[in-house]
Amino acid sequence: MNLKIALLAGDGIGPEVLSQAVKCLQAVEETFNHNFVYREAPVGAIAIDKHGDPLPEKTLNLCEEADAVLFGAIGDPKYDNNPDAKVRPEQGLLKLRKELGLFANIRPVKVFPKLLKNSPLKPEIISGTDFTIYRELTGGIYFGEKKINAEGTEASDLCSYTEKEISRIAHLAFKAAKNRKNKLTLVDKANVLESSRLWRKVVSKIGESYPEVKLEYMFVDNAAMQIILNPSQFDVILTENMFGDIISDEGSVIGGSIGLLASASVGTDSAMFEPIHGSYPQAKGQDIANPIASILSAAMLLEHFKLFEEAMAVREAVDKSLKKGIVTPDLDSKSQYGTNHVGDFIAENIVDSDDDFNMNDE
Ligand code: IPM
Ligand code: MN
Repeated sequence: MNLKIALLAGDGIGPEVLSQAVKCLQAVEETFNHNFVYREAPVGAIAIDKHGDPLPEKTLNLCEEADAVLFGAIGDPKYDNNPDAKVRPEQGLLKLRKELGLFANIRPVKVFPKLLKNSPLKPEIISGTDFTIYRELTGGIYFGEKKINAEGTEASDLCSYTEKEISRIAHLAFKAAKNRKNKLTLVDKANVLESSRLWRKVVSKIGESYPEVKLEYMFVDNAAMQIILNPSQFDVILTENMFGDIISDEGSVIGGSIGLLASASVGTDSAMFEPIHGSYPQAKGQDIANPIASILSAAMLLEHFKLFEEAMAVREAVDKSLKKGIVTPDLDSKSQYGTNHVGDFIAENIVDSDDDFNMNDE
């Protein structure tokens, strides 16, 4: 298969982890005879520094022309504590999501058996966790009207949703549940918010066309508690933009490191793949960042193009690195291995399991 992949490394550890993912994609090309073409473009703080714009026109065009975007990370502390900053790195990512129409952000949360002890939660609580968050990505409070009065003493952000915005992601989430454990939990705040009541109305109606899927409703405050009390009760979680942002970080704690969680953002014509972690500026250039979230994002990219065997080969190579303890220090404080070494190990272990020679090569 031929694929054009736009590489948006971004800020902080973005470039280091992204290049490990590219290594793995190159290994997939070689092992399975594909031809991927990579083109890089700036986004985030680095793009502000160079071009005064967190999403330069050229970057957006490159993404529009590509079959898929592989994203690193975004954010720089110099903007975080400056409420007066007019341009911010994050605006680049938000605009990209909006312009590419990436309305569904899919974030799988699963525990690797080998890492049960890494979690701050008890192994008996987290064992068997396997759920996927469907987070709405181009609506809600992130994109509603923003206001601040002339004196700078009152500000507001509007959370608004249309039936159409809710139904298109709801269908994806129900379809995903059908292929998984047939359960969908809508997370909202329908006891308080009008927009949440619309979500319930639209989702319960759509649920009638998926009779095999058990639909449950949960208030977001309770969901925040349930995710750490009893995470294995969930299968597919469907939720709006901001609640999804918050509970997915919470979900990442279950597996022991946010450095493991990948995500896919999909729309009608485009798709982007990115780790859920941020730019981790303190770790930049130190060769300590965990590349697995980025590598698993590349696996999700392969799955998006139905390259299932290829994606499985990547996932198996990741498993092997975990089993052998070839991991970065976030997973083992005594580990001597860096980002690059872990990336090399995983890339070298991407094999075609149909190949008899490799099967015996344990
Ligand atoms: C995420 C990030 C982004 C978000 C930021 C960087 C704008 O936290 O992808 O979860 O809030 O969506
Ligand atoms: Mn987030």
